[in-house]
Amino acid sequence: AGHTTLIAGGTVVNAEGFVRADVLVRGERIVGIGVEQAWDADETIDATGKYILPGGIDVHTHLEYPIDGFTTRTADDFATGSVAAAFGGTTTFIDFVKKRPDASLFDTFVERRSIAESKSIVDFGLHAIVPPLVQQPDVHDDLVRLFTEQGVSSWKFFMAYPGTQMVEDDELLAGMDLALKLGAFPMVHAENGHMVNRAAQQLLDEGKTAEIHHVDAHGHSQEAEAVHRAIVLAAEVGTPLYVVHVSSEQAAAEIAAARSEGLPVWGETCPQYLVTALEDYQELGERAAGYICSPPIRERANQAALWKYLGADGLSTLATDHAAFCMEQPEDLPPQKLRSPGYFPKTPNGVPGLEDRMMVAWEAGVVGGALDLCRFVEITAARPAKLFGMYPNKGTISVGADADIVVWDPEADHTITAAGGHSRTDYNLYEGMRVSGLPVTVMSRGRTLILDRELQEVARTTRGRYLARGAAQLF
Ligand code: URP
Ligand code: ZN
Ligand code: ZN
Ligand code: ZN
Repeated sequence: AGHTTLIAGGTVVNAEGFVRADVLVRGERIVGIGVEQAWDADETIDATGKYILPGGIDVHTHLEYPIDGFTTRTADDFATGSVAAAFGGTTTFIDFVKKRPDASLFDTFVERRSIAESKSIVDFGLHAIVPPLVQQPDVHDDLVRLFTEQGVSSWKFFMAYPGTQMVEDDELLAGMDLALKLGAFPMVHAENGHMVNRAAQQLLDEGKTAEIHHVDAHGHSQEAEAVHRAIVLAAEVGTPLYVVHVSSEQAAAEIAAARSEGLPVWGETCPQYLVTALEDYQELGERAAGYICSPPIRERANQAALWKYLGADGLSTLATDHAAFCMEQPEDLPPQKLRSPGYFPKTPNGVPGLEDRMMVAWEAGVVGGALDLCRFVEITAARPAKLFGMYPNKGTISVGADADIVVWDPEADHTITAAGGHSRTDYNLYEGMRVSGLPVTVMSRGRTLILDRELQEVARTTRGRYLARGAAQLF
């Protein structure tokens, strides 16, 4: 039973290899992969000359996400964010739950899950952000419940932002101990928050308050020190570790060195660190606010090493850290990027990229020669699915897997623009970039959300699902 769709004439690409084959979908799942089968389907999608890729997985997004002590929030909600994701070929994202000051972590999760369920057109998961004082009984008990009852199998620790989110080493160790005991996967935002604050204060004391000085406060050593320390602490505890948004060559080198010693450590990087550089915004004055994120977008000379590590599995995943803010202030949103022009400490941190990730990685990576086809699928879908407990339902075109499928045109001519995108933000870091790889048709658990670049009615009438996830699969 179930509606059947045949995706015919394309080349199926997985992390392990690629082959010319048709794909048969019944209901929510892939039920056949083969050539010259006498398959008869309710509907046929012609994929001649196209690649058939597992739906992209972005394990690092911040949709309708409160920041700066809940004084503002990111511009995309789960509706606009998930539509942007789908148009970019991403059919699964994992966002975060940050404890509200006036509610428990568990209750904050329940509320956020239900908001996302009511709006997201694609499947999604939620990581827990572990608040400081992880040893407090309520936080401890909520983490255990989130893991066991809700499949929140990955927990993020902030080594930055002292006074609000930062965990000290004792708290990080306690959190890692608990993660190890349960089988949860610890993630770290690795920047030494004390070093960042000290450097920022020195800059302010010297009157260096302009946007561009954000990058000076967030040095390479701030990041590399925290990455090194997180690796040592994780090894001491005996837990695997995931380092989000690695931006610095030195930080990436720490991860690559740990991996070459056989330690279960993985690093994520993001398109903005691979393709965008300090040189792109250092002359923009207040408008440099659009490029401010933490860790910062660094000098162009830093990029080659990130590409090298990403190609050779020193870095293993590509996510966006999509935390989109608008440059022009919309009436219905709290203060956005230009809330405090000329004063970098108050600029909301974060950049957009959810819709652009796959296209940018294709153009700069696959066409650019740093990634082959299989590696592209590995970093954008397969490895994220494995590490975050979703494989093989997600991250592979295989019989029995969820029918999360992207028909990818490798001979497109598309220009990335903010105006042509689906995020609520009003600018794009890749404005004007011409890309030859484009997701044309996008299926999420058997629902064709986008057909030939057109959003379908089913995207308006149905929703994606919350994914209760399992333990990290380390191989
Ligand atoms: O600048 C960034 N990355 N903002 C989002 C929150 C975080 O630290 O990941
Ligand atoms: Zn400290
Ligand atoms: Zn972060
Ligand atoms: Zn983030």
